[in-house]
Amino acid sequence: FDVVDLIRTKRDHGNLSTAEIDWLVDAYTRGYVGNEQMAAMAMAILLNGMERQEIRDLTLAMIASGERMSFDGLGKVTVDKHSTGGVGDKITLPLMPLVASFGVAVPQLSGRGLGHTGGTLDKLESIPGWRADLTNDEMFAQLRDVGGVICAAGSGLAPADKKLYALRDITGTVEAIPLIASSIMSKKIAEGTDSLVLDVKFGSGAFMVDIEKSRELARTMVDLGNDAGVSTTALLTDMNVPLGLAIGNANEVRESVEVLAGGGPADVVELTIALAKEMLRLAGQPDADVEKALTDGRAMDTWRRVIEAQGGDPDAALPVARETHVVTADRDGVLLTQEALPFGIAAWRLGAGRARAQDPVQHAAGIDLHAKPGDAVKAGQPLFTLSADEPQRFERALEAVEGAWSIGDAADWTPRGPLVAERIE
Ligand code: URA
Repeated sequence: FDVVDLIRTKRDHGNLSTAEIDWLVDAYTRGYVGNEQMAAMAMAILLNGMERQEIRDLTLAMIASGERMSFDGLGKVTVDKHSTGGVGDKITLPLMPLVASFGVAVPQLSGRGLGHTGGTLDKLESIPGWRADLTNDEMFAQLRDVGGVICAAGSGLAPADKKLYALRDITGTVEAIPLIASSIMSKKIAEGTDSLVLDVKFGSGAFMVDIEKSRELARTMVDLGNDAGVSTTALLTDMNVPLGLAIGNANEVRESVEVLAGGGPADVVELTIALAKEMLRLAGQPDADVEKALTDGRAMDTWRRVIEAQGGDPDAALPVARETHVVTADRDGVLLTQEALPFGIAAWRLGAGRARAQDPVQHAAGIDLHAKPGDAVKAGQPLFTLSADEPQRFERALEAVEGAWSIGDAADWTPRGPLVAERIE
């Protein structure tokens, strides 16, 4: 094939055949198709879309670029969860041990944060001794013996996606639904899980701000999973407001442990339970008493075993930032708004996130919220605390949240819609 012909086909709203897509992905992975050509193709896809068959072919071609894992020898049902990412989204931390406590294997191959959304591995690395890099054998053994694992996805899964995602990141082509769906699902299908629950976010802190777009993304991914033999469902969940009260790394671990101890913020508990029920339904346990496992210590026991199995000390003190800055309410009233994206950007600027893939994160940096929209507040009351190791970071973080929160009269408060807006199967 001639790559320029394929680019012209997509540019002119045509469809690519299975053979053309297989060739393109293979040639790109080998370096025969250049980055500039793939960038043009990605932009044509972003502008003109892809048919269901093309998205399926693209996903399968990216899977074929690397290894496929299998949990067949495990003797347990496997179920995974993937979130499209948000602000304060630490749900994997309480969810994995909660679901694993029912005897289901939960392989959470996770990533690191880039930009304003945090990464699960960065959060867990605030626990002294905990390590993300496991061999496939170690992961398998831990799933068999403990039931849950959260570790870095090996570079062997869908290497074509790794290369393409890095290219999309610098060419304004991340936001194409066919590309996002094939990117996420190629890794999940190659991982070899039996079933998968997708937490597809919408709202200001999400990839897709509109619920219509996130519904389309969810539909595309659910179809890709089911077509490939992975039982897949999705929940569309609201990401207009940060999840929970902690945004950062160590503070998100702290909040997750509160949830595992039967407490924690209501929204984090609600979403953890909704996703756990969905995962256990796919794993053949529709009547599992999820709430009870959170309050009777079973989920906490599994958490401790998972952390220890990966070298971490579940009782160790978590890092605390050297400097804090408290923002207080300027009047009495009701907290009306608290926008996820600006708070995510502020936490990132405080050092909780990274600008380049190779940068370290500062585990103690982040934001602790003291009030959520709908809460009554009094003038002078703390609204949120910024934490950082370097005090010069506060100014730019404060700029990010300027106008992102507001206090008004109780009469102006309109309750938010449900956190879990829709279920897609
Ligand atoms: N996460 C991925 O893995 N790929 C995307 O394209 C977007 C989010």
